[in-house]
Amino acid sequence: MEAQRGPTVLVTGGAGFVGSHTVVELLNNGYEVVVVDNLVNVYKGDGTLPVSLKRVEEITHKKVLFYNVDLLNPVLLEEVFRMHKIDCVMHFAALKAVGESVQIPLTYYKNNVTGSIILLEVMKKCNVKKLVYSSSATVYGTPQSLPLTEEHPTGQGCTNPYGKSKYFVEEMIKDLVFSDESWSAISLRYFNPVGAHESGRIGEAPSGIPNNLMPYIAQVAVGTREKLKIFGNDYDTPDGTGVRDYIHIYDLAVGHIDALKKLLEPSFSRWKVYNLGTGTGYSVLDVIKAFEEASGKKIAYEIAPRRPGDIASSYADAQLAKKELNWVARKTLLDMCRDMWRWQSNNPDGYATGPKV
Ligand code: WQD
Repeated sequence: MEAQRGPTVLVTGGAGFVGSHTVVELLNNGYEVVVVDNLVNVYKGDGTLPVSLKRVEEITHKKVLFYNVDLLNPVLLEEVFRMHKIDCVMHFAALKAVGESVQIPLTYYKNNVTGSIILLEVMKKCNVKKLVYSSSATVYGTPQSLPLTEEHPTGQGCTNPYGKSKYFVEEMIKDLVFSDESWSAISLRYFNPVGAHESGRIGEAPSGIPNNLMPYIAQVAVGTREKLKIFGNDYDTPDGTGVRDYIHIYDLAVGHIDALKKLLEPSFSRWKVYNLGTGTGYSVLDVIKAFEEASGKKIAYEIAPRRPGDIASSYADAQLAKKELNWVARKTLLDMCRDMWRWQSNNPDGYATGPKV
C-alpha cells in the first residue's frame, strides 16, 4: 500500500543554502516538495537539476520536483501551482548579500519585494493561503537591547536595502493576513546560519568572494584564500570583534519543520513571528578558534577597518520558539565548524568541485 502522502510544500529558492537543507528535512519528514528557483545564486551544473538538488536526492533517496522559474514571471509561476495540489509555501527566494544590496538597491527591491508580491498574488489566485516566510534578524536594525526578542522594534535603523526588503515583505504578509482571514503565515527571523549537512554533500557555496565570515574562514582553511580580514577589533564586545548568534543550518531547517507543523494546525492563530537563533553570541575570534580546532588548520588573519553597516553585537532570545514550537537549537559552534569543514574540504570549489580522480 502506498505510504500516506504528506502535505505538498512549494519551496521558493529551494536550490539555495537554507532552501536545500530545509528540503532535505521536509522530504525526511514525509512532505511532498516542489522546488521553484531561478538559479541566480546557484551553481547550475550540466543537467536540468542543479547540483545541490541532485545531492538532496542522493541524501534522501527521494526525487525532487524542480522548476527553473523566476518569481518575477507570474505566468510560469502560476503554471507550477496549477500542475500540483500545493498545500502551503515556504518562501526562501531572495538576494541576500548585505554589502551588494547597498550597491544595487533596485535589484534587491525588485527581486525580494516585487517577487514576493507576485508570489502572494499567484497564491491568492490559486487559493493557496498558508505561508512560512524566510525573514532575518536584520529587520531589527541596530539592537536597542539584547538579547533580541520578537517584540524588539523592526524596520527602524535597518542599515541596508537587504534588511529593509525583508522588513517590507514581513509587513506586506502581515497586512495581507489581517485583510483576509483565510490567510495564515509564520515569519522566521534567522540569525546567522552556518555549517553544512553532516554528510558533507550539501553546504554553503557563495559565488565569488564570500561576504560572510564562516565561508571565508573555511576558504582560508582549505587554501583558497590567503588570510581573513577581521573588520574591526574596537567594538564594545569582550574581545573587541563583532559578536553574532551563529546557528547550525540543520537546526534552522528543523525550525522550519516545527513552524510548518504549527501553521498547519487548525487552531493556528493566523500570524506569528519567531526568532531562530541559539541565544548565544560568539565573537569573530571565538569562531576562528573553533574553526582551527575543528579543521586542525591555522587561520591567518589581519585586523582591518570596520565594515560599513556592521553592528557590534546581535544575538537572539529564542524562548518563544521553544515555548510555542517546542524548538531549540542543539548544535554547538564546534559542530557548526566541523560540519562546515567537512563540506568545504570535500568540495573546495563548492558544487563546481569535480569528481575526485
Ligand atoms: C559576521 C561577523 C563581521 C566577514 C549575515 C548576512 C545577512 C543575514 C545575517 C540572513 C561581523 C565579521 C565578516 C569577514 C569579518 N543572513 N566579518 N570578516 O553581517 O551578521 O550578516 O547574517 O538573513 O544576510 O549578511 O554576517 O558573516 O557577514 O559577519 O570580520 O570577512 O564577522 O564584521 O562582525 P552578518 P557576516
